[in-house]
Amino acid sequence: MLTIGNIKLKYPFIQAALSGYSDRAMRVLAKKFGCELTFSGVILDSSASYKPLFEKPNYILKDDEHPIGAQLLGTEPEKMAKAAQDLCRVGYDLIDLNFACPAPKVVRKARGGALLAEPKTVIEIFKQVRDSVKCPVIMKLRRGFDDSEESARKFRQICDEAVEYGVDGLIVHGRSVEQRFKGTADWNIIKQLKEKFPKTTIIGSGDLFEPVDIVEKLKTSGADGAAIARGAIGKPWIFRQIIDVLEGRTEIFHPDIEQQGQIILEHFEMLKELYDIKKCIWYFRKFLTKYSKSHLRIKKVSKELITAQTEDQLKQTIKKWYNLG
Ligand SMILES: Cc1cc2nc3c(=O)[nH]c(=O)nc-3n(C[C@H](O)[C@H](O)[C@H](O)COP(=O)(O)O)c2cc1C
Repeated sequence: MLTIGNIKLKYPFIQAALSGYSDRAMRVLAKKFGCELTFSGVILDSSASYKPLFEKPNYILKDDEHPIGAQLLGTEPEKMAKAAQDLCRVGYDLIDLNFACPAPKVVRKARGGALLAEPKTVIEIFKQVRDSVKCPVIMKLRRGFDDSEESARKFRQICDEAVEYGVDGLIVHGRSVEQRFKGTADWNIIKQLKEKFPKTTIIGSGDLFEPVDIVEKLKTSGADGAAIARGAIGKPWIFRQIIDVLEGRTEIFHPDIEQQGQIILEHFEMLKELYDIKKCIWYFRKFLTKYSKSHLRIKKVSKELITAQTEDQLKQTIKKWYNLG
């Protein structure tokens, strides 16, 4: 069981916020395979009050999506509080504050991971958001800005004060902002945090790719949950596999090639409801590359899959390589 404020999940995992990926199609597929809570990609505070954004198919929340978390990015406490209210008004069930993003264009504007160097601002944002909405409010953090002792101290200060002011959960990616995606994630930090705050929901993130390893990381760290990120791109069935491991099944679900093909086609059909066909074909390529890596035979021919120019070509190629006649 994973509890985040009033949201109670049967299984200890969520699908992480993944900008450029975790759209409605990816979220619905995750739910289909047993992931009970998913997140939008990051939303800038100024966009949260931009009505036309929430009239786009990808942002219209349907009943089958709940509970769903909105991830919010910004630097000014008042603006963030107003944005959180707007996001709750359009139907999000949880607000996740992003103090983790390492992208240079974000850090240059002193947003996301850059704020780990500004504990006072982080806590002021949290307090104002906390006071402005009724839903759970959590934070996504990296383990610090860099490897310095000062960064470690600021990370501890943020966690201490967030817990003191009633944060509903902390999602911690065990890499520093400076590290971006290099090296490995430090799950020891997550373990230490859980030991220090046994009553606070701590969700670990970083290097979660294999179901057995994910369950092992949960056990050894004592974390309440795992945020599955890159591990779910092109492998939405990972959630079902984690459930199999958690429930002690010796046979772990693995879709055969035809089933994988059906899932890929289903994913593509859902994208058609969100974007125009040209964008769908172009945008789906990054998913196809990941999907095709799951299968050695397809891996070798993935070029044909990602160079299709029309819907018909794409579907025929998928059907051919995934044995769908
Ligand atoms: C393409 C991509 C987009 C991401 N977008 C976000 C985001 O919008 N918000 C966020 O908090 N983290 C984001 N992340 C970070 C992930 O949520 C996660 O913390 C990170 O990938 C570490 O987990 P992993 O090593 O298991 O992938 C993103 C990661 C990737 C690879």
